[in-house]
Amino acid sequence: MQDNVTDRIIKELPKPVVGLIQTAGRAAAKSGAAIYMVGGIVRDLLLGRQSKDIDIMVEGDALDIARSMSVILANKPIVHKRFGTATFKLNDYRVDLATCRSEIYDAPGSLPKVKPGTIEQDLFRRDFTVNAMAIRISQKRFGELIDLYGGRQDLENKLIRILHEKSFIDDATRIMRSVRYEQRLDFKLESKTARLLRRDLDMLDTISGDRLRHEVILWLSETQPAKILKRAARLGVLSKLHPALSWDPRLAKAFRDANRMSIDFPPVQLYLALLVYNLDKRQLGEFLERLNIKGGELDEVARQTVSLKIDQESLDYSPLQPSEIYQKLQCYKTAAIQANCLCTPSRDVRINLKLYLDKLRFVRTRLNGRELKAMGVLPGKKMGIILDRLLTARLDGEVKTKADEQRLALQLLRDL
Ligand code: CTP
Repeated sequence: MQDNVTDRIIKELPKPVVGLIQTAGRAAAKSGAAIYMVGGIVRDLLLGRQSKDIDIMVEGDALDIARSMSVILANKPIVHKRFGTATFKLNDYRVDLATCRSEIYDAPGSLPKVKPGTIEQDLFRRDFTVNAMAIRISQKRFGELIDLYGGRQDLENKLIRILHEKSFIDDATRIMRSVRYEQRLDFKLESKTARLLRRDLDMLDTISGDRLRHEVILWLSETQPAKILKRAARLGVLSKLHPALSWDPRLAKAFRDANRMSIDFPPVQLYLALLVYNLDKRQLGEFLERLNIKGGELDEVARQTVSLKIDQESLDYSPLQPSEIYQKLQCYKTAAIQANCLCTPSRDVRINLKLYLDKLRFVRTRLNGRELKAMGVLPGKKMGIILDRLLTARLDGEVKTKADEQRLALQLLRDL
């Protein structure tokens, strides 16, 4: 088996990035430190998959190396002194430098105690064999693959395997990560890993809301989140996040349809909305609390999704005046409406939601506030009422042209 992968590096990475990596190697050589690329980038290089995040670990002071590189490259890194890390940006690549470390877990789920270590210790603290390989990038032994746990063999056999029996106990986010890699790469959980995952499911209870939320967002940011959710449900992972979360063919269809929908916001919002659609308000509250989702966009979208579902009856008529649909929906986030449109069992509700999404939400009056002012309407409550009435008339097709709006505005001005 080939264990120098220089050709892979040159084939997969753009020249300037290879240059930066070589510069890191030279800078490390000068200070006598060993230096490596590690983790996801090694996995993806060997798989021939594109990856724009490059992790470099140094057996020595990473910031020292970053400083020398910065002078040679005339590229100033972002430095986090507290963590001893430096990040170089190069085109759309991101190169992180850190010091090799060893980790000790005091209690399951807690963040580990770390101290500087060797590359062997650094690889041993990692999640899966396929993520626990390194490539030397020092000048002399550039491209040498370090594979202490059979990661390359597992890549060939398409297996996700943990490094030791207590891996999921040390850090149960690995349970969620394993499903993500398995589905992203079209791999399988190695059988003992799958058994230990099932054994250690309860360890997810030791993980903080922030860390769980981070992993859920990573799931939903993948290109095929539905695959991950389906598998997570089957393994019992989803119901550990909340017992009422489940996967069924209807949800699968909603995810498929969502992929085809054109959306003008981050898809994670819509995917989360679909995931929580079947929950009731109490269950949703518990789920959001568990994931420490509060007060942001995701919180709002999730809550509005369930509120709108509960309120769907008011849209279950045909035909409804467009302005009535608009009134009912204008305060909802688009993702919440999309999710309801994808999941509702009612044809009439779906038609009304779709009309709003495709058309009504974009409708604007031709006259604006400035023009109304020129017509003698003073800014204030009256102007608000007139603009509302103009919009209603436009939504319902009562006015067609700007002149129609002007006539209606003058009439309203007289009547109000
Ligand atoms: N890692 C780990 N355990 C975790 C998180 C991360 O062992 N709970 C290690 C893995 O070796 C991983 C590396 O840290 O490869 C970097 O983490 P991350 O950026 O999350 O993973 P990538 O492998 O770069 O994955 P992705 O392709 O999803 O960015």
